Amino acid sequence: MTKPLTLLGIESSCDDTAAAVVQGGKVLSSVVYGQTALHAAFGGVVPEIAARAHAEKIDHCVEEALADAGMSLSDLDGIAVTAGPGLIGGVLSGVMCAKGLSAATGLPLIGVNHLAGHALTPRLTDNVSYPYLMLLVSGGHCQFLIAHAHDRFDRIGGTIDDAPGEAFDKTARLLGLPQPGGPSVEKAAQSGDPKRFKLPRPLLGQEECDMSFSGLKTAILRARDGIVAEQGGLTTQDQADLSAGFQAAVTDVLIEKTRRALALYLAQAPATPTFAIAGGVAANSSIRDGLTRLCAEMGTDFIAPPLRLCTDNAAMIAYAGAEKMAAGGIDDLTLSARPRWPLDDRAAPMLGSGKKGAKA
Ligand code: KG4
Ligand code: ZN
Repeated sequence: MTKPLTLLGIESSCDDTAAAVVQGGKVLSSVVYGQTALHAAFGGVVPEIAARAHAEKIDHCVEEALADAGMSLSDLDGIAVTAGPGLIGGVLSGVMCAKGLSAATGLPLIGVNHLAGHALTPRLTDNVSYPYLMLLVSGGHCQFLIAHAHDRFDRIGGTIDDAPGEAFDKTARLLGLPQPGGPSVEKAAQSGDPKRFKLPRPLLGQEECDMSFSGLKTAILRARDGIVAEQGGLTTQDQADLSAGFQAAVTDVLIEKTRRALALYLAQAPATPTFAIAGGVAANSSIRDGLTRLCAEMGTDFIAPPLRLCTDNAAMIAYAGAEKMAAGGIDDLTLSARPRWPLDDRAAPMLGSGKKGAKA
């Protein structure tokens, strides 16, 4: 039996600085330093602040990940790093750190696509076999991918404007609920009536798997402004009802579009039909429950990795790097940082993939 590869992973493409050590399918350590507090005053991620914070934290993060795994650099087989897509200053911090470590130790350097990291997570957590259908749904991305190999993905649909996480965050802002918006809208929705406001389900009538969420956000804005004009402000019940209505609309769109994506995937007659999700929005119980029911109905396994591996982390980068390395995909010191790096080069470019930032 060949010894499983042990890789250090480094991730710095948006607002999380992360390092991890993964051996085969085992996460030996995973350290994540979030930057939420640094960007809180600005209503979004500020690229310059993010890049500086990554540069300050990254060495420390790597040391901590090695210490937590009880390893030193000499125990590793390679160094994997997110080389894109993402905020370029942040991606550069990680790539420079990985190049320095590779040059100093002679260890192979492996540049990883951040989206591939998310998309391969079900293989790390559940040893899922190819091909499987994946929904990446986060603050910056929303796309359906059929994963055929570590470097071969078919994108069969996605958002044409905002990502759902971004819409949750904006809805929270409009309703005066705290950030990040997803958890606070979900909490408020628990005591709300999803039917009080009539909200749109954009593109639901269209056959393909593309989605749109910006009209929904505008509908929330109008509904809020209507109430404010009438009664001078929002009551807690208004916040709850608008949150419930918004969450129900997003859930309906995601479930219906997943039904169509699943039909396309199942038409390829996969040996073990599997559907998996990743990204912060995958934490939402209403969405998870809907997808669980849909998969049961369509005879498909449903994989929802633990949230710490669904959101940005470096264990997924180390794992994706190990798959790439095992297939002979080693980079050299000319590896460059890429702000854009679609997983499926053959698919038509999307009109938009979330305005919050190039993250997933
Ligand atoms: O994957 P992630 O941690 O970061 C990136 O976007 O890369 O996802 C963060 C997004 C935020 O927009 C947040 O509001 C959303 O995921 N989110 C949720 C929930 N928890 C986090 N959205 C809906 N329901 C939740 N429970
Ligand atoms: Zn991500």
